[in-house]
Amino acid sequence: MRLDFKNRLLEAARTFGTPLYAYDWQTIATQLERLQTAFGSAKIFYAMKANPNLGIIKRLNALGVGFEAVSGGELERAILAGATGQQIVMNGPGKLNADYTRASEVGARIILDNADEAPRAARYAPKIDTLIRVNPGLKVSTHDHLATGNASSKFGVSLADVPTAVLNAEKAGLNVIGLQMHIGSSIEDPNDYVEALERMAGLAKHIGAREVFDMGGGFGLQFNLEPLATLGHQAAHAFGAEQLWIEPGRWLVAESGVLLTEVLEKKKTARAFAVVDSGMSELMRPMLYGAVHPMENLSASRESVTLDIAGAACESGDILGKDVQLSDPNIGDILCISVAGAYGASMASNYLTRPRPAEVLLENNAWVVLRRRETVAEILQAEHA
Ligand SMILES: Cc1ncc(COP(=O)(O)O)c(C=O)c1O
Repeated sequence: MRLDFKNRLLEAARTFGTPLYAYDWQTIATQLERLQTAFGSAKIFYAMKANPNLGIIKRLNALGVGFEAVSGGELERAILAGATGQQIVMNGPGKLNADYTRASEVGARIILDNADEAPRAARYAPKIDTLIRVNPGLKVSTHDHLATGNASSKFGVSLADVPTAVLNAEKAGLNVIGLQMHIGSSIEDPNDYVEALERMAGLAKHIGAREVFDMGGGFGLQFNLEPLATLGHQAAHAFGAEQLWIEPGRWLVAESGVLLTEVLEKKKTARAFAVVDSGMSELMRPMLYGAVHPMENLSASRESVTLDIAGAACESGDILGKDVQLSDPNIGDILCISVAGAYGASMASNYLTRPRPAEVLLENNAWVVLRRRETVAEILQAEHA
């Protein structure tokens, strides 16, 4: 974490309250530069699901970044952020009829997730530029819930069915501009891409030349991107594709963000806990994926202790961190949960009628509020007694 950012976090917690998502624009910009340097001419379609905050995607779009949308809502976000149709690709299984219509209206491209999807897509988005999502059928090195390129996952078209999927799409009048893959998120072993890209390139002899090859996202934060980029360009080359597309989400935003949370209680059962004002409704990743987020006590430097950091939910699984070593927290101390810029705020929910946290961005040394804290009144507004 950038020291200049870290040094401003207590001030942010005091000013905006907790729980609070705080992001560092400079970190996002640096990650984008690293990506652009490694991938050269590739087109970036940021996977908004990682962090769809309008303030962030507007800033990314101003730097030429396009978007991958997986719902009608994300499509509207991309449009609001200023993206042109050509800067948007609509993906995902189970698209709504209205999603095809809207994608077609704005000139976005779509990715078919199913060999039989084309007739419905063509009814609502005639002649739209289309990619086929391929499931390369790998064993992928990530948590099961994050692996999308294994043969049994619900995603994409199996390798053997790709020629049929292309044929079906063309018969329906769609323009098949290329293939796409996304093998999963938080991939641990870069060799998964070697294998997946080889399998993808093997499809070239079955489906012929195409304009685009999209290698998805999922890049582990520790990856050396250069060799990965070379492999991606080689796979694109196998199709004679002029354009390599990538869909990074976490890579761009994960390390830019922290969740700040206040210690409300300390307690002991058979284990020692600090109970904080965040939990599974603010940060789902530990519970959903067993994700481990670094944590530290920003308020004081005391003797180090080992504790579980617990949320307030009436759920035994509502533990943000197990066996966390940190400076012995007092009630009222502010803890910093790092690498929370991706799939943090975007997955926050109103479970337990908890208002979602505010989100702030440090930009040019000043805090900008990207999303104010939700209120209980707002949550209740849509309900009728
Ligand atoms: C199709 C697709 N592309 C890209 C991404 C981005 O993945 P990550 O945030 O791990 O880069 C996802 C997320 O799972 C996805 O489903």
